[in-house]
Amino acid sequence: MIPKEVIEEIRYRCDIEDVIGTYVSLKRAGSNRHGLCPFHSEKSPSFTVFPATKSFYCFGCGAGGDVITFVQKIENLDYVGAVESLATRAGIAIPNNDTLGGTPTVSRKRIYEMNLEAAKFFRSALFDPVLGAEGMKYLVENRRLSGATIKRFGLGFAPNDFGMLTMHLKKCGFSESELIAGFLSKKSQRGTLFDLFRNRIMFPVIDTSGNIVAFGGRVMDDSKPKYLNSSDTPGFKKSRVLFGLNYAKEHCAEELILCEGYMDTIAMHAAGFGNAVATLGTAITSDHARLIARYTKRVIINYDSDDAGQRAADKAMQLLDEVGVPVRVLKLEGAKDADEFIKKFGVDAFRNLLKGSSTAFDFKMDKILAKYNVATAEGKIRAAREVTTLIASTYSGVERELYLAAASERLGISAEGLANDVKRARAKQAREARQKESRELQLSARNFGDRVNPDAAKDPAAAAAEEVVLGLCLLYPEHRRLCAGGQVALNAEDFFTDFGRRVFSAMMKAEKSENGFYFSALGEEFSPDEMGRLVRLQQDRQALQNNGKEVLIDAARALRDRRRAREAGAGGLEGALAARRAMMNKKNDETEKGRT
Ligand code: GTP
Ligand code: MN
Repeated sequence: MIPKEVIEEIRYRCDIEDVIGTYVSLKRAGSNRHGLCPFHSEKSPSFTVFPATKSFYCFGCGAGGDVITFVQKIENLDYVGAVESLATRAGIAIPNNDTLGGTPTVSRKRIYEMNLEAAKFFRSALFDPVLGAEGMKYLVENRRLSGATIKRFGLGFAPNDFGMLTMHLKKCGFSESELIAGFLSKKSQRGTLFDLFRNRIMFPVIDTSGNIVAFGGRVMDDSKPKYLNSSDTPGFKKSRVLFGLNYAKEHCAEELILCEGYMDTIAMHAAGFGNAVATLGTAITSDHARLIARYTKRVIINYDSDDAGQRAADKAMQLLDEVGVPVRVLKLEGAKDADEFIKKFGVDAFRNLLKGSSTAFDFKMDKILAKYNVATAEGKIRAAREVTTLIASTYSGVERELYLAAASERLGISAEGLANDVKRARAKQAREARQKESRELQLSARNFGDRVNPDAAKDPAAAAAEEVVLGLCLLYPEHRRLCAGGQVALNAEDFFTDFGRRVFSAMMKAEKSENGFYFSALGEEFSPDEMGRLVRLQQDRQALQNNGKEVLIDAARALRDRRRAREAGAGGLEGALAARRAMMNKKNDETEKGRT
């Protein structure tokens, strides 16, 4: 358990608006603040910060919570990790660091310290004339890297030995569990630790704060796997980090070059393109896209020219479009990747390539045209159909106009003809979007597909009464006291959903404890998604006029009634009614399905 004083100190010193403001650009909206949600892709702001209740909520995706929940989600930390991170930010010392959270967790800070020590070890090994001879030869002769580049990226070498690093790190005071959690050592069947990275060129992955968060290790021949990458560790999630961004962030305000691999990125930097980054052996994710959107205005996709690279480019275009970052795509010819291209044709040729990179639209258009034989009427019609769908999905009218002109020229069909089809396709897309939205609304109205509280769908009336009680108790101490003191007779068992029961128990337990109830403490027991729901319950409730005692008493009575009805089973009148309602709901659902 983290002491209450620490949590309160954090909540006091880490102003939620300041903390969130470092990630999201917030605008004033009455007493609240609005911004684009960092947890899902959106173009108009539904993310709201409530300074009064020190909470946030996104009306688009349901993310919500307090400042600790926010840091948990955005930095991908557990509760304890988020508290530690905020404490560091506010300069608050947390007593007894290692035993936090009950189970022996490995702290992020320790992993970073360990990685730094490991990076130094790998670097010394690379520069050692005996140990690192082969590695250095590979980098200088095969990859033609300069000493300056090797040093700038902190490259190293993992010796061909099962225990050197493990032994070294143990000597530095790192524990076995830290070595394992940090993905540097592994336990053998005999129970001893051995080095995971052996006989590999080592690439440290550094985050934008300068921490070494992971390593990639490459073999020097054709053996497999070519790269070994750290798995996700405490404080590191692959989908949240870009290789090279720690350097590129100074050079990418206008434009960023997105590469596929470590070596491409390094080659680009060495050639003078300091704005290159790469994902870490995984395809680009929406987390990456949002990270990119925070640092740059435009992206040039620089992926390998093979099929896999081109498919990955499609994905990147889609994800970057969702966060509103315009994209161009590099067309590599005569080389499999940028590294090879620069070696073969030189830096100037590459710069020309960058200038001539095609827009996402041209890139997609090329692909469509390559698919069909547009010399035939049949091929032309099919290509036109795909092109008009593509143009129809473009948001800007000006862009549509330009694309229409380009498509008309390339297909040899009049722009008016194409424009008509685009209009029709747009109407169809809009209709489909509306249908999808209303379907989703209806579903969520009936609590179907509710991941946080899946039980709610089974008895919406009970779930609604629960929300009243929980919302009131979360907001008002006097209501909590009424429940805890027994003036309002309500037990956890009266709750229908598992979620409701857990929240109510936790609240009552805290209320009766020495410390009393405070919202942030719930974060220790409830997931960020669940915390989001709790903030919504508060906000829903706060928006209503009548939040008095009568409302609480009423809802408590309803819950007790539902419970009695449940226990009486299907024989009771209430039970029969509930069953009938459930059946009708199901029927409605079926007719809807039939309709679509
Ligand atoms: P070179 O082949 O040395 O030029 O490296 P590269 O960085 O250009 O690699 P490549 O284009 O083959 O792969 C792109 C990225 O995918 C690499 O930087 C790695 O992060 C990742 N990757 C490649 N091979 C493997 C593998 O065998 N396993 C894993 N986990 N990741 C890999
Ligand atoms: Mn390569």
